[in-house]
Amino acid sequence: MADYIRLVDDRWSFRDADTKQYTHCYHTYPAMMIPQVARALIEEYKPEGKLNLIFDPYMGSGTTLVEACLAGVDSVGTDLNPLARLMGKVKSTHYDEQKLKYELSAIQSDLIFYNDSFVKDRNFERISNYTFWYTEANLLKLSYLQQLINEHCSEQSKDFFLLILSEVVREVSFTRNGEFKRYRMKEESIARFNPDVFGLFERKAQRNITGLQQFNRDANGASVSVYDFNSTYGIPAEIIQADSVDMVLTSPPYGDSHTTVAYGQFSRWANEWFGYKDAAILDSLLMGGKRTKDEQFVTNSIRRELDEIRRLDEKRYWEVVSFLNDYSKSIANVAGTVRRGGVVCYVVGDRRVKNVQIPLDFFTAEMFMANGFAHQVTLVREIPNKRMPSKTSPSNVAGEQVATMSHEFIVIMRKL
Ligand SMILES: C[S@@+](CC[C@H](N)C(=O)[O-])C[C@H]1O[C@@H](n2cnc3c(N)ncnc32)[C@H](O)[C@@H]1O
Repeated sequence: MADYIRLVDDRWSFRDADTKQYTHCYHTYPAMMIPQVARALIEEYKPEGKLNLIFDPYMGSGTTLVEACLAGVDSVGTDLNPLARLMGKVKSTHYDEQKLKYELSAIQSDLIFYNDSFVKDRNFERISNYTFWYTEANLLKLSYLQQLINEHCSEQSKDFFLLILSEVVREVSFTRNGEFKRYRMKEESIARFNPDVFGLFERKAQRNITGLQQFNRDANGASVSVYDFNSTYGIPAEIIQADSVDMVLTSPPYGDSHTTVAYGQFSRWANEWFGYKDAAILDSLLMGGKRTKDEQFVTNSIRRELDEIRRLDEKRYWEVVSFLNDYSKSIANVAGTVRRGGVVCYVVGDRRVKNVQIPLDFFTAEMFMANGFAHQVTLVREIPNKRMPSKTSPSNVAGEQVATMSHEFIVIMRKL
């Protein structure tokens, strides 16, 4: 790692960028990639020769897929989170705008005369603890929205409206605003909380149709495929052949979901509402979710940090190692899909555990180098608009927090 270059370049912070252009406006998600980062990477770091296929092994809300569409390049994404897959699919689909507007107005006409006796599905048992999280009146309104989507929308456009409903389902629950984890509001806030369920749905629908219009105008018909395979365990050859990918563009998790970003908790509202499998245990299925008791990788780049964490707290050390075991296996599998000369861009965070900074960019480059790649450069960018929680609990003790991420590292490597 002697000639490893970290380049601090303010241009990559995209301080004033509009991150909600196109279908990027559809739905929030934890730790979203800035679209401008993906766009600039495709433009400035695309591999020599052809660029026909981009792969995102942790696609989240599908930022890479949307940007691949805008660049006219086919893409494949995978994520274990069903809500992420719904987002990835919907955000990269060229729906017929006129048809959506027509269907939306049919829904709106019925909403005007709402009466809760119209609601057919009144069974909410699939939602854990639903009376703790919702008022009965709002549950019925949400159910009515779903009923109207089913009545008025064609099979092709249903998902477009269900993704809107997904955001509303979360926003009208008693979850604290701005939190990824499931924390309930204080009683005083609940007493004042009176969300306009139908208004939220209608405004989001208008917003998303505007985003779709921009997307339909500027993206051509590149193909997008969304899957649910776990790259830690292998990449199905019938989906992506070895040595076939021109560019990998992704932002992986930077630790297990329990101690870093809780994708499963954030998504549980929608995943339960839609009855998706494994909604309650998703975080334990994600990278690092299962504890292991041996180091299954060889590292020099973060050896000192790992030893220090172990000295301070053995349990935290094994948490970190469990994540890195999965992460390094995933990298070996991802590396095998890339063609010679192909480029890999990993946008990673620098995480602190027991106040020890773990340079995940070093580790990422080291693992790719062990799998036939050369490190080109690591771009360092500031995170100006807090898409990441700026604080997490480093010790998992409630209330004990520390600033974790103000920089991101874009690790760029090329296959030899
Ligand atoms: C940082 S987020 C990706 C954000 C994405 N770039 C965006 O712009 O929204 C990481 C994603 O990795 C997913 N993930 C975690 N472990 C995974 C695994 N083993 N296989 C596939 N996806 C996984 C999580 O569900 C999460 O959506």
